[in-house]
Amino acid sequence: MDKILTANAEKYDQELQPYLPGTLSHYRASLKFSYDRAETIFSQSCAFCHGQNADGRGPEAKRLTIPAEDLTAIRTTRQYLYRIITAGVAGTAMAYFTIYDRYQLDDLMDYLNRKYQVLGPPEEVAAVISPQAWAQAQHTYEQTCSVCHGLDGRGSQLSQGLKPAPPDLTAYSLLPHRAFKVISEGYPGTMMPAFGELPQEVRWGLVRAVGLLRTETIN
Ligand code: HEC
Ligand code: HEC
Repeated sequence: MDKILTANAEKYDQELQPYLPGTLSHYRASLKFSYDRAETIFSQSCAFCHGQNADGRGPEAKRLTIPAEDLTAIRTTRQYLYRIITAGVAGTAMAYFTIYDRYQLDDLMDYLNRKYQVLGPPEEVAAVISPQAWAQAQHTYEQTCSVCHGLDGRGSQLSQGLKPAPPDLTAYSLLPHRAFKVISEGYPGTMMPAFGELPQEVRWGLVRAVGLLRTETIN
């Protein structure tokens, strides 16, 4: 009995031999397909606003009153990113993409993460901030920023009516250079004001203060 089984197994092995390399390349082809899929989704559904390099400079960008975000500068969680993509940002051109299923969007998020680390941890502020500037930054956050962003960064009662509303800073942050720019210049077309008149060091302090609100873990 054993002998017959062994002989059969050998026969099958021989018969299968020619197909094995084919199976492998087929497997590689399907891997490539699933890899390409996210890239295709990005090119077709995101790039005309966010740009092929995701830096917010797509061909459509010039026509947007509220500019598309530089996606290379965002650091967030999978859950929050999924929500942005499927719910959009009310009051802006950022549409909701319910045409894609969860697998496709997971793929897209993995792709954005591979290329730009959007699901990576927030970055610490490298600038030197004196204790005085840090104190002023914290004071400014509590007195001014919190009116819209809330003391905990989740948004205030007042900001619920804003379109676009502030992002949830406990789950969503920007790289320091980008946060510095938005805090200094405001976000065009939105209620996010410019704070460029504050000393530079205080603005870096604000970048740090906002960064510390980020409590949601990475996933
Ligand atoms: C028609 C233009 C347009 C398209 C297409 C578009 N976006 Fe956006 N997107 C925007 C704009 C404008 C903003 C800025 C919204 C804001 O600042 O409130 C934005 C913001 C974002 C943000 C940051 C959220 C925030 O609060 O600013 C993410 C993440 C994002 N888009 C991802 C995507 C992905 C992924 C796609 C493709 C599936 C996509 N977008 C397609 C215009 C677009
Ligand atoms: C009057 C309301 C208001 C005040 C005051 C305010 N913000 Fe904002 N902020 C917003 C809104 C609305 C947005 C969302 C803009 C958008 O959709 O791109 C925002 C966005 C942001 C963002 C994220 C920007 C992005 O590209 O996603 C940061 C960081 C930020 N604010 C920091 C601050 C800091 C620091 C202060 C205080 C110095 C402050 N904000 C004061 C309304 C406000």
